[in-house]
Amino acid sequence: MSSVTVIYRSPFETAICSSDAAINIDNPRYPPQIRGMPEDLEGVVATSTRLSHVDGEAGRLTIAGYALEDLAPYASFEEVAYLLLHGRLPEPAERVRFTQDLAGRRPIDALRMAAALLSLGREESPGDDAMTAIASFPTIVGAYWRALNGQEPVPVRSDLPHAAHYLHQVFGAEPSTERARALATYLNTVCDHGLNASTFAARVIVSTRSDVISAITGAVGALKGPLHGGAPGPALDMVFEIGTPERAESVIRAKLDRGERLMGFGHRIYRVRDPRADVLARAAERFYASGGDQRLYDLAQQVEATALRLLRERKPERRLETNVEFYTALLLHGLGFPSELFTPTFAVGRVLGWSAHCLEQLRDGRLIRPQSAYIGPTGLHYDRGPARPAV
Ligand code: COA
Repeated sequence: MSSVTVIYRSPFETAICSSDAAINIDNPRYPPQIRGMPEDLEGVVATSTRLSHVDGEAGRLTIAGYALEDLAPYASFEEVAYLLLHGRLPEPAERVRFTQDLAGRRPIDALRMAAALLSLGREESPGDDAMTAIASFPTIVGAYWRALNGQEPVPVRSDLPHAAHYLHQVFGAEPSTERARALATYLNTVCDHGLNASTFAARVIVSTRSDVISAITGAVGALKGPLHGGAPGPALDMVFEIGTPERAESVIRAKLDRGERLMGFGHRIYRVRDPRADVLARAAERFYASGGDQRLYDLAQQVEATALRLLRERKPERRLETNVEFYTALLLHGLGFPSELFTPTFAVGRVLGWSAHCLEQLRDGRLIRPQSAYIGPTGLHYDRGPARPAV
């Protein structure tokens, strides 16, 4: 039987031990560190990255060295894309070249683009595939949405910055500076977030030396789930369902009584408020103050305060705070996005992180192949019974 090494690191303990391949965690022969292996890989360090760091205790997110709140509200999406793909911010001339390169990859029409993304047998080039995917996502979403609603896709414009281009692809009109700034802040805020589920999925796929587009496709599937990228729609639904501040307490209590989770609250890593919620709350506040539905913004704030109070009351042992999705919903709704486009818009930002992680994994990583701890029975005997005729 071959020998394996199980490595488990949590913030509290580090254990490295070797044992035989089949591990039955009920078996007292195995050290407690293995028997105590967390479900769902919580606390397990599975890779190293230079792209982003999530400090869940302090509530800090660092994007390639920069504090989120210093970067997201001010940088263009192109600068952040350059930072994640090249490890530093661009010089002015590099920024111009990179912006042109990204814009030049916007496909002429959705069909050609979809074919380019999906076609088999093309020559793979990880860096090129990453740039093409980042550049194409706004057009995929915009063209699909317009077609679904019986509208013609709008022509691709290579003179608009990425965020403005996305708004143009969806809504068919050139956005105001405020709208483009608000969306760029959102895309920058969600572009990367440590080894979240979809990024891990992308890294696992590309670690097999599969191609970057396949990895991104798998990541989209992981992002779609309501526990990951699918929460902002239901978070906003709750605000609408509540409707007026006086109803917040009764509606939220009823949800908690039914054992429902409040969408937009709680996080696997953050034990304090998600720093992205702050950046997006400020962006939403600015945006709503400049002509949005201020009443809705105020209602959302009251809903948030009530939800936090009731969560503390119900689960005093578990710190449940506002996460990124709550203000995502409010900001994207203010920008005119229907809730069906919340998760796709998340993907328009996160495709940057997936791409950068794929390139990092291809450069530095090995095949990702963890072990499972076998907890089923052993030593059962298959009763062959009387001799049976061969089939
Ligand atoms: N509302 C109400 N209760 C919640 C909750 C929420 N949003 N999030 C967690 N809890 C409760 C759980 O019911 C559980 O209670 P229990 O111990 O009595 O069963 C406890 O807190 C721990 O939950 P757990 O599932 O272990 O936390 P997790 O780390 O796996 O969950 C999330 C993290 C994000 C999946 C979870 O907080 C959640 O479902 N949030 C809502 C969805 C959401 O906003 N997702 C976007 C994430 S950015």
